Amino acid sequence: MDKLVIEGGQPLNGIVPISGAKNAALPILIATLLAPGEHIIENVPALVDISFTLSLLGRIGCPSLVAGGRVKLDTSRIAFCEAPYDVVRKMRASVLVLGPLLARCGEARVSLPGGCAIGVRPVDQHLKGLEALGCEFKLENGYINGRVDRLIGAEIHLDVPTVTGTENILMAAVLAEGITRIHNAACEPEIVDLARFLSSMGARIKGAGTSVLEIDGVPALRPARIPHRILPDRIEAGTYLVAGALTGGRLTISGAPVPELGAVLSALTDAGCDLEIDGDSVTITRSGPLKPVSVSTEPHPGFPTDMQAQWMSLMSLAEGECDVAENIFENRFMHVPELCRLGADIATNNNVARISGVTALNGATVMATDLRASACLVLAGLAAGGQTEILRLYHLDRGYERLVEKLRAVGACLTRVPDDARVPVGTLSEQRAVS
Ligand code: EPZ
Repeated sequence: MDKLVIEGGQPLNGIVPISGAKNAALPILIATLLAPGEHIIENVPALVDISFTLSLLGRIGCPSLVAGGRVKLDTSRIAFCEAPYDVVRKMRASVLVLGPLLARCGEARVSLPGGCAIGVRPVDQHLKGLEALGCEFKLENGYINGRVDRLIGAEIHLDVPTVTGTENILMAAVLAEGITRIHNAACEPEIVDLARFLSSMGARIKGAGTSVLEIDGVPALRPARIPHRILPDRIEAGTYLVAGALTGGRLTISGAPVPELGAVLSALTDAGCDLEIDGDSVTITRSGPLKPVSVSTEPHPGFPTDMQAQWMSLMSLAEGECDVAENIFENRFMHVPELCRLGADIATNNNVARISGVTALNGATVMATDLRASACLVLAGLAAGGQTEILRLYHLDRGYERLVEKLRAVGACLTRVPDDARVPVGTLSEQRAVS
């Protein structure tokens, strides 16, 4: 296994290109199951979760070719309507094959995703919506066994605006007979991108991005005539903006989904950062001290839960106290003890973390526990004095394409080495000075 070694304290200056959104690419690649034939998807990020998804589609009988962000998928035939435990346990979003397999084949056998580091992650709403469309499920031996003769449109009221739940139901409803309305649907930009892709294959969808999705089912879909381009990743964009705010340089993110970043840009402005927006580029600088800004995670367009850990890193160095409330997941503070190892002063009480800003963070060895926690530790390491080592990097590889390369290009001193390697303190900054 590898670790990341960072020598902090360098201001970041330059341009970071933003990659395609992981959480849009996953459902869109899976949605190709709905239309037999050859599909081309562009701007797909090179991430472990993408590889897992393509490997699962391969096991279902749909081979793919990947070249520089362009994925060619052949979904002409389906050999197995199954997502086995050994795949789903590695990536719970594999549950997204449920809707498309039921719509295409009338059956599906998907391992129950189980929980993960940040919470129980139930799928009851996925099943509730699909049952409303006529599907029948039996849960046995850790698997969801589903079947359906005919998908019939229905009025569906979700108890929570679940992102992948909305996506699963949407991907079945597009091939149901009649009208389906999904009430209390998730409004995330990734839903909008999925709806855009489904429409390019002939689906009839209204209300994407609002809490009521209306789908007029069609008998069949066909591959889009032109390649679909995955929208930019708003969470990656927000993560790099926080890196710029923390290190005090002049950092620009390019190819960013600016309209989808509202809550994060507003919080950064309140924290004392200056933002220059020019089309899909955002440049962040900071002249004065960081101000404490409390945030409370909400479904889109509120402050995203996937930015909560990164925000905590920033607020660790603010002048004063603030609160971070996590309202989406029940256990998404695993990064707090690791941040405290770097010198942060954070106390948690149920779903609220009280952060008392400190004047400096100090390098230490820390452990990533989940994807966004690992990003928060990278950010803290970039700001901390001395050397920080981050273990269990596989979490980071799930969601951040070419992170080391992108950060090095704007002046960060970091390297990826085997867990047992030793990098003498000062080596990285000396190398940078020479290069
Ligand atoms: C998606 O997860 C994202 N993953 C997550 O990103 C993101 O944090 C989350 O949405 C919230 O925005 C992908 O899109 C692949 P939810 P998802 O269903 O769909 C409860 C990352 O870091 N719930 O919207 O699994 C659930 O327990 C990942 O990129 C039910 O109760 O999240 C949670 O409290 C992490 N029953 C809340 O809803 C259900 O059937 C929101 O979960 C489904 C969900």
